[in-house]
Amino acid sequence: MTALARQTAVENTPITRARLDTLLRIPSISTLPNHAEDVRRAARWIVDWMTEMGMTRAELHESSGRLPLVYGEWLGAGAHAPTVLIYTHYDVQPAEKSDGWATEPFEPTEINGKLYARGAVDSKCHVVIQLVAVESMLKHGRAPVNIKMLCEGEEESGSEHIYEFVAQNADLLKADVCVISDGSLPNEYQPVLDYGLRGIVSLEIHVRGPKRDLHSGHYGGSVHNPVQALSEIIAGLHAPDGSVYVPRFYDQVEPLTDEEREVLLPMRAPFDEEWRDVTGAPAPWGEADYSLHERISVRPTLEINGMYGGYLGEGVKTVLPATAVAKLSCRLVPYQTPDHIWACVSEYIHHLTPPSVTVEVIRMEMGAEAFIIDRTSPALKAVTTAYERGWGIKPLLSREGGSVPVTAEFKKYLGAELVLMPFGYKNGGAHSVNESCDLGMVDKGIQTMLHFYEVMATSHGA
Ligand code: BES
Ligand code: MN
Repeated sequence: MTALARQTAVENTPITRARLDTLLRIPSISTLPNHAEDVRRAARWIVDWMTEMGMTRAELHESSGRLPLVYGEWLGAGAHAPTVLIYTHYDVQPAEKSDGWATEPFEPTEINGKLYARGAVDSKCHVVIQLVAVESMLKHGRAPVNIKMLCEGEEESGSEHIYEFVAQNADLLKADVCVISDGSLPNEYQPVLDYGLRGIVSLEIHVRGPKRDLHSGHYGGSVHNPVQALSEIIAGLHAPDGSVYVPRFYDQVEPLTDEEREVLLPMRAPFDEEWRDVTGAPAPWGEADYSLHERISVRPTLEINGMYGGYLGEGVKTVLPATAVAKLSCRLVPYQTPDHIWACVSEYIHHLTPPSVTVEVIRMEMGAEAFIIDRTSPALKAVTTAYERGWGIKPLLSREGGSVPVTAEFKKYLGAELVLMPFGYKNGGAHSVNESCDLGMVDKGIQTMLHFYEVMATSHGA
């Protein structure tokens, strides 16, 4: 670390910590309507901070029934300097202490260099890293590039409204490079740069049998139990080798080339180790021809997110339930379209459904295409240099399994080069209990952003 970097870290650390604490105390859960006011409160807090630090435009974009988007900008570097658009999200997944948290989910608690709270890693650490980086430049009067920032409040609940916003505000959001600041790194020492994310399509299966719950003694054996029928349908969706058994599911998937396999090779061993640590699962599962890392990055999947039917209360209830429900989601890889996957999965579910029950397959609103960037893109080069300076070690390249729905829209409307800049901690329990961010990585994240702006200013147009 250079003396200047050390000095900036010393200056920023207390500010960062105070900002993280305040933002993490706001339960901005976008999927629960009774938290809409909290989501708005978090949005207003970001706007106030943007204004206070001297961003020249800071505003809430909200119309009825929507959770706000926050837009802020500082364009003081001038028309000849490059413009960087930063995207983050400030909404979080639901959390209750009774889910099994060791601490209160909305009372940030520091333990051994980690800050525990819902949203710490996904993705409020990114919101704070990005804003502290800008603030620390503006404190010294200026930044070397123009900055635009878009913070979403609906990422965790399907990103329904940002699509329209991006389509209608392509001019406002115009930039040379768009940075998606979300995602995570395995540890504080080895940065890993993602050059792709998977897409997603979600659906619900409703199986209906008898017109109401029945006594299983009176009718069991004569009526096809909907929970059983649903299990049979679900069991038909995968082959014994772990691949998805739905016809045409893989039609649009490009085979993994030897060249890309080579690029991803250094991720294999670290990912195997991480896999053991993070999952704690008794043994690996999935497509044997692919490494564990390849299975979560370059291969599409079909996942059962939940299944419900019948009696799950205390004791015994001999019931033959009337209905059963399952929620499914598919992770998509490049060139698979949500429409195609929806069509072939729903068609096959209908095909698997016996005449003894009826089925309804519902497509959920949210959906996103996978996203991949050219490994030789100049923006990715700038990001690589920034991480190398911020971490003191060359980053590895990887593709991530998660999804950020708006990326495809950015690609379509903005004409900016897209890159991912993740600073979360992989083992930080995103979407799970005891979520945490690593405070050391947060500091490195701020440093990395400052390096990135510097590199952009000197390399742009060169
Ligand atoms: N931060 C994640 C996305 C992510 C995960 C990026 C891993 C990079 C690595 C994001 O908040 C998220 O959870 N996205 C959802 C999207 C879904 C709700 C449409 C996901 O991936 O499940
Ligand atoms: Mn998330």
